[in-house]
Amino acid sequence: MLKHFFIFAILALYLGSNNCFESKDWDYFVFAQQWPPAACLDVPHGKCLIPEGVREWTVHGLWPTSHKGYPSFCNSSWPFRPELIKSLVQVLEIKWPNIYANTSEYSFWKHEWSKHGTCAATETMFNSEYKYFKRSLILHDDYNIFEILRKTGIYPDDSQPHMLSFIEHALTVELKKSVKLFCKNHKAYSKPILTSMYICLTKDLQIIDCDEIKEPTCQGTFVYYLPFSNSTGIR
Ligand SMILES: *[C@@H]1O[C@H](CO)[C@@H](O)[C@H](O)[C@H]1NC(C)=O
Ligand SMILES: *[C@@H]1O[C@H](CO)[C@@H](O)[C@H](O)[C@H]1NC(C)=O
Repeated sequence: MLKHFFIFAILALYLGSNNCFESKDWDYFVFAQQWPPAACLDVPHGKCLIPEGVREWTVHGLWPTSHKGYPSFCNSSWPFRPELIKSLVQVLEIKWPNIYANTSEYSFWKHEWSKHGTCAATETMFNSEYKYFKRSLILHDDYNIFEILRKTGIYPDDSQPHMLSFIEHALTVELKKSVKLFCKNHKAYSKPILTSMYICLTKDLQIIDCDEIKEPTCQGTFVYYLPFSNSTGIR
C-alpha cells in the first residue's frame, strides 16, 4: 500500500513538473538569424557547407516564445511534408540554408517546423507549413541585417574586429527596438565572433524590444564580423 503511494507520488511529481515545461502557450516570436561564416564554427570541422549563393544573414528560425521559456514540438500529428514548400525551396536555399554537410536538404526545415512551426500554428497567419515558411522569408526581407549593417558602413572583416557598440547602435537606430546579439569565442581570434541575432516580434509581427531574452549575449568592446571566405577552413 505504502509502496503504491510512493509510486503514485513520484508519478504525480513527474507529471506535474513535466506539465509546466509542456505548456504550449506563448506570447511573442523570436526571429533568429545567423551569420553563416560564424555559424559554421559551431559545426564540427569539415561538416559545414555553406550552399553556393548564400551571401547574407540567414534564417535560423521563427520561434514562439513565452515569458517563461518556449514551447516546442507542439503537435506531433502534424508532420513536415516537403512537397508543401516545394515552391519556396529555391529561396529557402539562399535565405534559410542548411549548413550541415551530408544531411538531407530538408532536414533543417523539418526540424524547425516540428519544433517551432507546429507551435506557431495556433495563429491564423501561421496555420500551415507553407505559411510558416513563407512568412519567415518575408521577415528575412523585412529585417535584412547584412543591408542594415552595410548601410552604416559595417562590413565583414577578419583583419580587425568591430566595436560591438557600433553594431548595436546601427541595428537599434534602424529597427527602433532592441535586439540581441550572440557571439562565440574561437581560439583563432582574440575577440568574440558575432554568430547570430534575435529580433523580437508580437504574434502579429510588430517588432518589440527583445528585453526578456536571458541567454548570454555578446560581451566586450570588440567583436569579429567574419567574411565568407576563410570561414570554413577554420578548426
Ligand atoms: C559526406 O559523406 C561522404 C560519404 O559518406 C564522405 O565521403 C564525405 O567525406 C562526407 N563529407 C562531409 C563534409 O562530411
Ligand atoms: C495537430 O495537427 C493536426 C494535423 O494538421 C490537426 O488536425 C490538429 O488540429 C492539430 N492539433 C492542434 C491541437 O493544433
